[in-house]
Amino acid sequence: MGFAVAFCVLAITVPIFTLDNGLMRTPPMGWLAWERYRCDIDCQNDPKNCISEALFRDMADRLSEDGWRELGYVYINIDDCWASMDRDANGRLQADPKRFPSGIPHLAQYIHDRGLKLGIYGDMGTHTCGGYPGTTLDDITTDAQTFADWEVDMLKFDGCYSNAKEQEKGYPAMSKALNATGRPIAYSCSWPAYQGGLPPKVNYTQLGEICNLWRNYGDIQDSWSSVLTIADWFFNNQDILQPAAGPGRWNDPDMLVVGDFGLSMEQSRSQMALWAIMAAPLFMSNDLRTISSGARTILQNRVAIGINQDPMGVQGRRLLVEKSGIEVFWRPLSDKASALVFFSRRTDMPYRYLTSLAKLHYTHGTYQIYDVFAERELGPLKDSTDFVVSVNPTGVVMWYISAPADADQNSAHMGEKLRGPALHRKSDGILL
Ligand code: GLA
Repeated sequence: MGFAVAFCVLAITVPIFTLDNGLMRTPPMGWLAWERYRCDIDCQNDPKNCISEALFRDMADRLSEDGWRELGYVYINIDDCWASMDRDANGRLQADPKRFPSGIPHLAQYIHDRGLKLGIYGDMGTHTCGGYPGTTLDDITTDAQTFADWEVDMLKFDGCYSNAKEQEKGYPAMSKALNATGRPIAYSCSWPAYQGGLPPKVNYTQLGEICNLWRNYGDIQDSWSSVLTIADWFFNNQDILQPAAGPGRWNDPDMLVVGDFGLSMEQSRSQMALWAIMAAPLFMSNDLRTISSGARTILQNRVAIGINQDPMGVQGRRLLVEKSGIEVFWRPLSDKASALVFFSRRTDMPYRYLTSLAKLHYTHGTYQIYDVFAERELGPLKDSTDFVVSVNPTGVVMWYISAPADADQNSAHMGEKLRGPALHRKSDGILL
């Protein structure tokens, strides 16, 4: 058999290792209720914050009117505690009639009218984690069809109250059932989080075939220690997790808590930077009606978002853990660009970290550097030139690095594309 024939046979028989629904070629962005609003169902005493159609309408208004949608934050996702405690006469899930008096299809319409997408929550098991009706193996087809009939765009499928055997059947079955509805519904699987997140219990090749994203690890809380624990787990296991991600299939370290109560501004930038490096879904869980301008600026940072949304879809890695408490992260981007994050675990004072691009494995050349959160151009930097970055305690310095001028003329202005035309360019020299 000639080489060409052998290649063709191979090409035909090698399976395509991604969920074939064409969705989420870059990490999804939007808003998700859980971390901030939990299972608050007390609409009588807490009408502004309870899980109700009003809350999702409010957030849809904010996403569409305050510049979020244009930046890519398009999903509005309902989490647990939306359902009525009983299925209807036909065995279908139904929304709590008091808190969602207009029903989910109406809410979907409201959200679609604003150019947004609606996500909903279900659970592979007898009950959701909050004790609401779950989806047992027998319910899968009905529930997938119900979500499609309601014109839902995404399903987060949790895994409370089921065992490993049921999950092994249920998660692929739901993927098939969603596809069979004919409606494109992005599929978020909590399966790996229930199986410890690592092989041999978790099969990331299979996950890539059936899910668009998956929770690998425990729930985020509104605290710096929670963000740190999660980031550490993901980067400690990067050799396993990093190759699992790609267009249409993403690791999910859980929501952004930027804009809530637990993180300082430094820590908020750190979460945004590390989630961008990880190619993580960017689901905010905060109050967009009252968010501070500082948190908004971080979440709306165009270059950080551009790095997160890079079309090549390669998840980044931790390159270095220094004794000093500085860690360096790196993500390759399209057009030969890249991102670097210098992160400080220190708790004393800004640390002046001395390094060079060559020490960080950059090849020979002169690179254009843009400081993502300072929002300024730092000028050309040779791989061999030593530089100092000053990194604040629990904070980051994040750089967007264009291809070296001598590498590829066409890509020299990638930074411009990411930033959009509105930003000023300054040449302020390289040292911070
Ligand atoms: C689990 C999930 C959370 C949230 C809650 C809802 O804990 O991991 O993200 O969906 O259930 O009860």
